[in-house]
Amino acid sequence: MDIKDHIRGIPDFPKPGILFYDISTLLARPDAWQVAMGRMSREVRKFQPDLLAGVESRGFLAAAPLALKLGCGFVMLRKKGKLPGKTIKHEYSLEYGTDTIEIQEDAVQPGQRVVVIDDLLATGGTMTAGVDLLRKVGANVVGAAAIIELTFLPGRKRLAEMDVPFTALVSYD
Ligand code: PRP
Ligand code: MG
Repeated sequence: MDIKDHIRGIPDFPKPGILFYDISTLLARPDAWQVAMGRMSREVRKFQPDLLAGVESRGFLAAAPLALKLGCGFVMLRKKGKLPGKTIKHEYSLEYGTDTIEIQEDAVQPGQRVVVIDDLLATGGTMTAGVDLLRKVGANVVGAAAIIELTFLPGRKRLAEMDVPFTALVSYD
């Protein structure tokens, strides 16, 4: 099965000139979604994770079923102000301005092997922020994975510069 058959490109979203890769159609097809999560779990397993960290919000969609399949814990990296209790924040730069992601302070035991999961890797701003945040709480970030990689953007290179190997199910040039 070609997973790309179930991903649609929607032009000019969220801004003119941007082609948005929409996984709604993949999620709506249980057979295709099962194949996608099966393939991705085989790749993510190679990192031998203790925990998967999903990036809010679309990252949660893949990270939760993958964690169940692999028998790993699942930790949420959330947009700011959503998590109760003591949290650690990380602010990162966007094209215009900054954004902040947050984790619960006790979500990771020092040295635990963590893989960051998102639906899509583009500039890498989100994933690299996730790596920084996880390192702040003592995680050993052993890998990163996404359903989709946009290979014309520097996401993979930026992760490699942080010594984080990356794997994706499908890519678009
Ligand atoms: C999208 C996507 C990734 C990120 C990729 O999330 O789900 O998380 O952008 O882009 P980057 O590699 O350039 O950082 P978005 O911020 O749109 O939010 P959402 O997941 O809540 O829809
Ligand atoms: Mg996202």
